[in-house]
Amino acid sequence: MAIAKRPSTEMGQRLFEYAAAPEATDHLKIADSYALFVGGRFVEPHSRRRFATVNPATEETLSEVAEADETDVDRAVTAAADAFRSWSRLSGAKRARYIFRLSRLMQERARELAVLETMDGGKPIKESRDVDVPLAAAHFFYYAGWADKLEWAFPNRRPRPLGVAAQVIPWNFPLLMLAWKIAPALAAGNTVVLKPAETTPLSALAFADICQQADLPPGVVNIVTGAGSTGAAVVGHPGVGKVAFTGSTEVGKQIQRATAGSGKHLTLELGGKAANIVFEDAPLDQAIEGIVNGIYFNQGHVCCAGSRLLVQESIVEPLLAKLKSRLGTLRVGDPLDKNTDVGAINSRAQLEKIEGLVNSGIEEGAEIYQPECRLPERGYWFRPTIFTNVAQSYRIAREEIFGPVLSVLTFRTPDEAVEKANNTPYGLSAGVWTDKGSRILWLVERMRAGVVWANTFNRFDPTSPFGGYKESGFGREGGLHGLAAYVELS
Ligand code: NAI
Ligand code: MG
Repeated sequence: MAIAKRPSTEMGQRLFEYAAAPEATDHLKIADSYALFVGGRFVEPHSRRRFATVNPATEETLSEVAEADETDVDRAVTAAADAFRSWSRLSGAKRARYIFRLSRLMQERARELAVLETMDGGKPIKESRDVDVPLAAAHFFYYAGWADKLEWAFPNRRPRPLGVAAQVIPWNFPLLMLAWKIAPALAAGNTVVLKPAETTPLSALAFADICQQADLPPGVVNIVTGAGSTGAAVVGHPGVGKVAFTGSTEVGKQIQRATAGSGKHLTLELGGKAANIVFEDAPLDQAIEGIVNGIYFNQGHVCCAGSRLLVQESIVEPLLAKLKSRLGTLRVGDPLDKNTDVGAINSRAQLEKIEGLVNSGIEEGAEIYQPECRLPERGYWFRPTIFTNVAQSYRIAREEIFGPVLSVLTFRTPDEAVEKANNTPYGLSAGVWTDKGSRILWLVERMRAGVVWANTFNRFDPTSPFGGYKESGFGREGGLHGLAAYVELS
């Protein structure tokens, strides 16, 4: 039999051919153009300007979205400030009822939201369907539960809301980041002006529709679309009492400078360059799945991605052989296909950034591995990539690539693993794979990272705080910590 002569990886690929299984899109209505959501209504932008949001898997324009200018932002902040007077005085139980309703409506409209998220941002439908949307609804559900229990959340203190929260979010988890920002803000009695990222505004606009459907009092949530200058206007507005930002470290630093001395409360959730550390006693097959999940999930557009793999030297060869073979089974392509593992890169700009960093890796002397895979002709794509022979000084070992690109480094002793893992300006997350509980505890104590996953990776739960050290930012989102970021205690 000819097939018996094929190397096992190739056989693996051929054995698992799937028929196309695209998710239907006919239940989704995307308007040709969208206005701003201010004071509970969709209003035409003062700027009269609009910009296109495209589907990165096809390069087709999905819709034209309003670009808010300073006047638009001022109107949104004014609407939020007006709404704050009554929203902050509403009983916690009544606020909870609205937030529960938002959560239930997100669940009811989950399919629509998942398809929208996938079309606007390029992430595989199985991720938006099974991760983004359910987790987003879970955040609202969780914080709804706190709204009438603030005195228990902060015993013997008097929690007061901060006022209007200015919230700017990125494009990698649009609806989920919206939930992380809006749910705790509302539970604590704040009102919000949120600006989604310019490449992925549609799920936030669908959420605006959900706010109307839930009869949320006008002005409690305002959504202004636009790019960086709109974001700068939102966080710079003198009427906001709190700024929450998730995005690049560079913009985070600008926001910190812009808000310094203003009295605004600030939380920043920025980039990362997480170490995923595999010891020689780790369950190897399980670790392979964790490595794949750590860096190829969501095309590697993940701030806490396990982008630096640290492998104990004694197991480098078997681990890399297994990893390369596993890469050959990843399905790259149509994000709407239910079998797809790696979808489209979010934008042309992000694709160019990834290509630039990957080229720097090759030039600096690292060895590149990419599995064979056919990529669609249109759209933005990047093959799952592994770099070996990586020195700590290479750009691919230091800078956030935010793409499906793994840099493999090695270590001999646990001390060396810690040394190398912490050798980064970032400190958002880390992973450790080992059979020994004592080693996990030893390592966790020494890691400068906000989250350390043990024998798993990229696990999220609304009750668990998330955030960084150093250039990964400060403040925590999720759990009680996430609520504390939206209150002043006296
Ligand atoms: P970015 O930081 O420019 O964008 C994030 C959000 O900030 C967007 O909504 C954007 O419109 C807004 N923004 C941009 N400039 C602003 C300003 N001056 N004031 C207020 N808001 C502003 O990130 P970008 O350019 O989309 O991606 C560049 C790199 O940043 C990525 O390659 C990745 O390495 C990193 N990044 C990290 C994220 C994270 O989750 N930590 C998310 C997105 C990007
Ligand atoms: Mg888009």
